[in-house]
Amino acid sequence: MPISQAMRDRHSVRQYLDKPIPENIRQALDSYVISINAAGGMHIQLIYDEPACYNTRMAHYGHFENVRNYIALVGPKGSELEEKAGYYGEMIVLKAQELGLNTCWTALSRGKSRSVILPGEKEVILISLGYGATQGSARKSKRAAQISDYAPDAPDWYREGIEAALLAPTAINQQKFRISRQGNKVAIKTSGIGPCLKIDLGIVKFHFEIGAGKDNFEWA
Ligand SMILES: Cc1cc2nc3c(=O)[nH]c(=O)nc-3n(C[C@H](O)[C@H](O)[C@H](O)COP(=O)(O)O)c2cc1C
Repeated sequence: MPISQAMRDRHSVRQYLDKPIPENIRQALDSYVISINAAGGMHIQLIYDEPACYNTRMAHYGHFENVRNYIALVGPKGSELEEKAGYYGEMIVLKAQELGLNTCWTALSRGKSRSVILPGEKEVILISLGYGATQGSARKSKRAAQISDYAPDAPDWYREGIEAALLAPTAINQQKFRISRQGNKVAIKTSGIGPCLKIDLGIVKFHFEIGAGKDNFEWA
């Protein structure tokens, strides 16, 4: 499955089946995360067969059920950590989708994770992982004109980048970002106030790169 298809198919899934993740899928995800940690200087961890973290009042209140696996976005403290967690986390989300798994970013609706946090590191956020009871469903989205300077004479790659950005998950579906272009230079900034905006920004940037094609533009 191409990653662009995974991007269209992905929706947040909060209820999971009892089905364990088989060994071959774990190995594929584990080696993907090893390569991401090496490339991004992160300490992202996959935690399997651990039902306690999402077996809390907060998780049930947030309609999470039967979460037995999750991804812990851990990395070195610093001003870029949250955006990096969003960027690399969404890479893993879309890889998981390609492998037939479902996910949901989780800032609040869960308990304490079993990740290993070394001195100088911080855990930014978790992502639930497993076989969904359903594939989730499409949600409301802003339109291109509300989040960008898109005009009909813009190049195709820009339109496709914006469409991909609008498919990106954001905290409470806030979609508080603004995309602008000068020639082949593109800027994405968060706009207004809201929770997890820097994480959202990293997620949205990754989606834009997939939609637009990295060779077609440069980040401003
Ligand atoms: C940074 C971030 C934090 C989130 N935290 C939570 C959370 O604590 N609880 C929850 O139920 N959903 C959470 N979500 C999921 C969003 O509500 C969901 O992504 C958004 O409504 C868009 O829906 P979609 O993912 O199906 O496209 C979070 C999403 C992001 C990106």
